[in-house]
Amino acid sequence: MKSVMIRKPGEIAVVDSPMPAEPEKNEVIVRIKAAGICGSDLHVYHGRSAFAAYPRIIGHELAGEVYQAGSLVSDLKPGDKVAIDPVISCGNCYACRIGRHNVCSSVKVLGIHVDGGFSQYIKVNAGNVHKIPDNIPWEEAAVIEPFTIAAEAVDRGRLSADDSVLICGAGPIGLAILQAVRRAGAKAMIMDIIDSRLERAKKMGAEKVVNTNNTDLVKAIMDFTDGEGVNLIFEATGSISVLELCVSALVSQAGRIVVLGYPRETARITPLDIMRRELDIIGSRLNRNMFPEVIEWIKAKEIEPSSIISHVFPMEKVREAIEMYDSEPEKTCKIVLTF
Ligand SMILES: NC(=O)c1ccc[n+]([C@@H]2O[C@H](COP(=O)([O-])OP(=O)(O)OC[C@H]3O[C@@H](n4cnc5c(N)ncnc54)[C@H](O)[C@@H]3O)[C@@H](O)[C@H]2O)c1
Ligand SMILES: [Zn+2]
Ligand SMILES: [Zn+2]
Repeated sequence: MKSVMIRKPGEIAVVDSPMPAEPEKNEVIVRIKAAGICGSDLHVYHGRSAFAAYPRIIGHELAGEVYQAGSLVSDLKPGDKVAIDPVISCGNCYACRIGRHNVCSSVKVLGIHVDGGFSQYIKVNAGNVHKIPDNIPWEEAAVIEPFTIAAEAVDRGRLSADDSVLICGAGPIGLAILQAVRRAGAKAMIMDIIDSRLERAKKMGAEKVVNTNNTDLVKAIMDFTDGEGVNLIFEATGSISVLELCVSALVSQAGRIVVLGYPRETARITPLDIMRRELDIIGSRLNRNMFPEVIEWIKAKEIEPSSIISHVFPMEKVREAIEMYDSEPEKTCKIVLTF
C-alpha cells in the first residue's frame, strides 16, 4: 500500500509500505479515504516535533471505511463509514483514571508518536473508530478531528450562551472553535493578521473580526464589551505575546482563558493579574471522547465542517499540499488529502 512518510526531517515521500497484519480481536483495519493536513504534521516534517521519531507515517485527521474487523468487534462491519480518534492512552495513570485520557501520562497520537493514517490502510483499536452517517462527504469527515479539538476547548472553557468570547487565531482550529461557540449561542469576536481567514470567520457568524495589523485589539475588545473585557478567551494563535496580552489586558474579571497554542518560550505574566480577577487559565489538549458529540453536531447541521476547507489534493500531491500550507497561509485554511 502507499503511505506518506517523513523519512527524516525535511524529507517527505510517498512510499510502498506493508499492509497492516490481520486485526487482533478488538482491532479494525480502516481503508482511508480522506485525511486533513495539520500544523503538527508540519512540525514532524520540519523536525520540530518533540514527540516524533523517524521514519514516521504522518496523519491524524482521518476518515475512511472499515475494511476488516477483529473477531470481538460487534458494532463495526466492512464498508461502514468511520472517522478515527487519534488519541491512544494507557488506561491506568491518574489522568486516565479520572476520565482525562487525552492527557494520559503516556498519551500517544497517531501520526506523531506512532505511525498515522496518511496511508491507504491503518489498523487501530475499535474504540478509536466512530461510525459517521453515509451522507457526510469524505473531505468533511476528515475534519471531524479538528472540531473535536474545538469541542474539548469549549468544554474546558465552560462556555455558556451568555459569554462574550474572543478567539485568538482564525486558522482551522480558531474557526472550528468559532463554530462551536456560535452553535452554543454565545457572541464571538475573532482576531488574526490574515484578512482571508477573517473573511471566513465573518461568514461563519463572528460578530466582530479584528486584523491586529491595523486595529488596536484592546480598544476593539473594550468597545465590544462596554469596557468589561471578554469573559472567555481561546488562545489559538500559538503566539506568546498574544497570550500575555490576553492575561494583562483583554480578559474580564472572573474570566477564563483556554490555552490551545503551545509555544515553548516563557510568558511574562503578572500573578497580580490572575489573582485580582480570579482568572482561570485552562489548558486544552486533543479531545476527550468528543467524536460522538461532534458527529451529532454535524447530523443536526449545527456546524459546517466544509467551511474550514480551502483545498483538496490527491495524496500523491502531498508534498505540494504541505508546502502550500506552510508557505501560503493567506491562500489556505484546512487542506485535505484524498486516498
Ligand atoms: N491544544 C490542542 O490540542 C491543539 C490542536 C491543534 C492545534 N493546536 C495549536 O493551536 C494553534 C492553532 O492551530 P491552527 O491549526 O489553526 O494553526 P494556524 O497556524 O493555521 O493558525 C494560527 C492563526 O493565528 C494567526 N496568528 C499567529 N500569530 C498571530 C499574532 N501574533 N496575532 C494575530 N494572529 C496571529 C495566524 O495568522 C493563523 O491564522 C496552533 O498553535 C496549534 O499548534 C493545539
Ligand atoms: Zn491536527
Ligand atoms: Zn494513562
